[in-house]
Amino acid sequence: MRGKLITFEGCEGVGKSTQVRLLKEYLVKTRQEAVFIREPGGTRISEKIRDIILSIENKEMFGECELLLYNASRAQLISEVVKPALDEGKLVVCDRFIDSTLAYQGYARGLGFEYVKTLNEFVAKDCFPDATVYLDLNPKDAFRRKGGADKGDRLESEALSFHNRVYEGYKRASEIYSDRFVVIKPLGNKFATHEEIISALRNKGLIE
Ligand code: TMP
Repeated sequence: MRGKLITFEGCEGVGKSTQVRLLKEYLVKTRQEAVFIREPGGTRISEKIRDIILSIENKEMFGECELLLYNASRAQLISEVVKPALDEGKLVVCDRFIDSTLAYQGYARGLGFEYVKTLNEFVAKDCFPDATVYLDLNPKDAFRRKGGADKGDRLESEALSFHNRVYEGYKRASEIYSDRFVVIKPLGNKFATHEEIISALRNKGLIE
């Protein structure tokens, strides 16, 4: 039987990577095998592309270049890791995936939501997520909770207005893909949010 693909999405600072880590710990504890990856990255080539995309030195990078690099990284990750794992019946969990490109490049960069949707379909082929855990928190509240925005890489260094557009882009993606989006508002503590995620994924029959 084909495996399942779960993706995690959200704006900067919403606690996405923490929730991916807590899911990983839960699956280890309950002896459920899964492959964990992140985007951009996850293969030798994709990690090199990640460095190019996120390097603060590459300030002159145009949106079109950025869009194609994210998809280049993804194309390699899908062929090298995601598709083989799904073919072997494994569970794959990816920290960011196609919806990041819709929200960041399609919407926030203004490269065209519909165009990016088509490009995503070309690159992802039959590796579409079975569920997308979307941590729904706006950038202002996320940064306030964190005590300020991280400015470590090129994307994090964008202005608040950019991150607000990313948030709007996610809203649109969650409407278009309402069947696979699991919308979780991370308002309580991280363990409460984790419990909510586990129960939603169990209800969908993706984990035990
Ligand atoms: P990360 O901080 O979650 O590792 O993600 C790296 C950055 O890349 C983050 O700012 C979101 C951004 N990103 C896009 O703009 N488009 C994409 O397609 C992906 C996967 C990430």
